[in-house]
Amino acid sequence: MSLKDLPKLELHLHIEGAAPPAFIRGLAQEKSVDISRVFKEDGSYDFRDFVHFLSVYEAATSVLKTPDDYARLTTAVLEESAAHGVIYTEMFISPDFCGGSDVAAWREYLHAMQEAAARAEAKDGIVMRGIVTCIRHFGPEKAKASALCAAETAGDWITGFGIGGDEGKGKLTDFAWSFDLAREAGLQLTAHAGEWGGPASVREAVDGIGVVRVGHGVRAIEDLALVDQLAESGVTLEVCPGSNIVLGLYPKWDRHPIQALRERGVKVTVSTDDPPFFHTTMTREYEQLERAFGWGAEDFLEISRNALDAAFCDGDTKAKLAERLKDHPA
Ligand code: ADE
Ligand code: ZN
Repeated sequence: MSLKDLPKLELHLHIEGAAPPAFIRGLAQEKSVDISRVFKEDGSYDFRDFVHFLSVYEAATSVLKTPDDYARLTTAVLEESAAHGVIYTEMFISPDFCGGSDVAAWREYLHAMQEAAARAEAKDGIVMRGIVTCIRHFGPEKAKASALCAAETAGDWITGFGIGGDEGKGKLTDFAWSFDLAREAGLQLTAHAGEWGGPASVREAVDGIGVVRVGHGVRAIEDLALVDQLAESGVTLEVCPGSNIVLGLYPKWDRHPIQALRERGVKVTVSTDDPPFFHTTMTREYEQLERAFGWGAEDFLEISRNALDAAFCDGDTKAKLAERLKDHPA
């Protein structure tokens, strides 16, 4: 079976970051918004480094103004994911961008995305769940409003709460109130850490906030005692190797720590983060992992099982997904 057709589970995908540039350009034209600075001449997204990436990301997102825009985006992203063999995807969705964290507006955006996701599931079999995400550089007060939206809509479909954005800004524990509220509402927790922050940021996420998954987390490799703690506790890393390479964390695929983390017993998974920004797809991630580390069907099946175990969905959904993985034995 080709790597493209292999069934895949993706746990770390930002919905706006997955928007094809042509989709964003089309919306900008429809709404007469000038965001030409966002694109290179060849039409791809244009950014220099991580902080510039975040600013380009937000400029591109500024053309997404209505629930219907998010419904269309959901459809486009799920179609692309399904074409790369993804059977289950968790997407980060930010109330900040969907109605300015007003609960009534957020409900309308959510309804539109859920309807689009139901249509995609009926058409392509891809299952989606949402993780409400606050944005670190927007600060703890804005995060509280996002957490309130998350708590109000927690359930079968909104199943997690997390944080993205600029890891260089503030301390993760400044957001503890929001994570506590989300936890009390029954949401499972993840946080971006160990991407731009070192091992201390991963400890802060795991010990200070109590997350069960870490977004990226790869810089844990710089502290082997922490790596052993992650392995023993079963905390799962949402590793996005192609993102890390394009953003300059590691110079080449064969220098990425995903294999070393895995060999030391850490549960790793593979995701694309913001695929068109990083010129990647789930198929491309798999191809590069095959090339760099010689991964084959058995390795990819282990990665999928890790993702299934760590997925923020209910047991019935997991059981159905497990059957679909069984249909494609290594
Ligand atoms: N938001 C979108 N992509 C991100 C990343 N790689 N790190 C932090 N925040 C993000
Ligand atoms: Zn991310």
